[in-house]
Amino acid sequence: MGERPNWTSGKLADLRTLFPVLQQQINGHPLAYLDNGATTQMPTPVLDAMRDFEQHDRANIHRGVHTLSQRATDDFEAARATLKRFVGASGPQHEMVFTSGTTEALNLVAGSLAVPFEQPAWLQAGDEIISTTLEHHANLIPWQQAARRAGAVLRVLRPDADGRLQLADLQVLLNERTRVVALTACANATGERPPYEEMLKLARAAGALTVLDAAQAVSHEALDMAVLDADFMAFSGHKMYGPMGIGALVGRRDALARLTPLRFGGDMVEHVGELDAKFAELPMRLEGGTPNVGGAVGLAAAADFITAHGLGAIDAHVRTLRQRAVQALTQVPGLRVLAPHAHQSAIVSFVADGVHPHDIGTLLDARGIAVRTGHHCAQPLIDHFGVGATTRASFALYNTPEEVDRLVAGVAYALEALR
Ligand SMILES: Cc1ncc(COP(=O)(O)O)c(C=O)c1O
Repeated sequence: MGERPNWTSGKLADLRTLFPVLQQQINGHPLAYLDNGATTQMPTPVLDAMRDFEQHDRANIHRGVHTLSQRATDDFEAARATLKRFVGASGPQHEMVFTSGTTEALNLVAGSLAVPFEQPAWLQAGDEIISTTLEHHANLIPWQQAARRAGAVLRVLRPDADGRLQLADLQVLLNERTRVVALTACANATGERPPYEEMLKLARAAGALTVLDAAQAVSHEALDMAVLDADFMAFSGHKMYGPMGIGALVGRRDALARLTPLRFGGDMVEHVGELDAKFAELPMRLEGGTPNVGGAVGLAAAADFITAHGLGAIDAHVRTLRQRAVQALTQVPGLRVLAPHAHQSAIVSFVADGVHPHDIGTLLDARGIAVRTGHHCAQPLIDHFGVGATTRASFALYNTPEEVDRLVAGVAYALEALR
């Protein structure tokens, strides 16, 4: 059935031993974890790095002269350096700020650009922001709010009937009032991978600040800030084999310097008087309060884990699994795959006539297969297709062709049982 991934079954079996959570049965079946678009699992090198930090170096950073505090500070800054390298942001024109995840990173950007702080607000009344129908709510609602706050206009780049974004449509929307273009590197609800490189280029040429939501791409696509025309890029640790509650906003220094801190308080100041404060330089000014140091250490270990296995090899593997799933699912009568054409994607999303996705998800779970059902925090895109909730399977480097085949067999069984 379908194509074979480039990794041998032996290589995959070895890889899977690194993920303790996969070594279990669910409802009497081996766990087939296909909900990686929501959260990936953590391998032992990541778990070990975090445990090592908590057992040996745990202390608050930047504030202590004692050895543990200095070690913790070194661990935190080493994690930042690793992650900057991972996304091509090691050069002096870039900086990276730790956040709790993609949502916080995007809120930090959108919330900042609508208010003055040390500089006039980037967004003024009558300015235009472009986002797209493909976005997760985390890259749409903050822009709705920013537009409201600034009196700006939010324009939405809509996909064609198949869910593709077209460069020509973006060109039509761009004009001299466009101040921000925010788009996804991969739509989490369909797996559509827009031509974001070209789109960012067009947007920057039009004078806009550019924002890339890389949450669904970072685990398998090379994202090089030195090459991309992105002023800001956001991603989450828990979608790239790292921990929850940690992520990053990486950006051009001059763009990051426009942002207003989300949190005023400790660790982000140079001097504080009773009535005023002078703020620290980047990145600390945007990292007020005690950060998630163990999370940062785990996130850096996750980046190293990905690098060790090769982004190219991981990308080829997840794409092949997606292709295998699409090929088989499109043969199932009465089942529609959304954006089946999508390439360079690890996500397949589908609907079936007369059967609710939650029921499919429940029957799959009874066979040990974990998928996500619902609108995937992307209601405008789901509305665009006019389909209601969908069932979504999303693949990671540890998934096997056999798991894809179990998914397909499970869906066929569920449809028979539920119709
Ligand atoms: C494309 C995309 N953007 C943003 C997010 C939000 O990420 P987080 O919940 O880690 O902040 C998600 C989560 O699913 C996503 O898929």
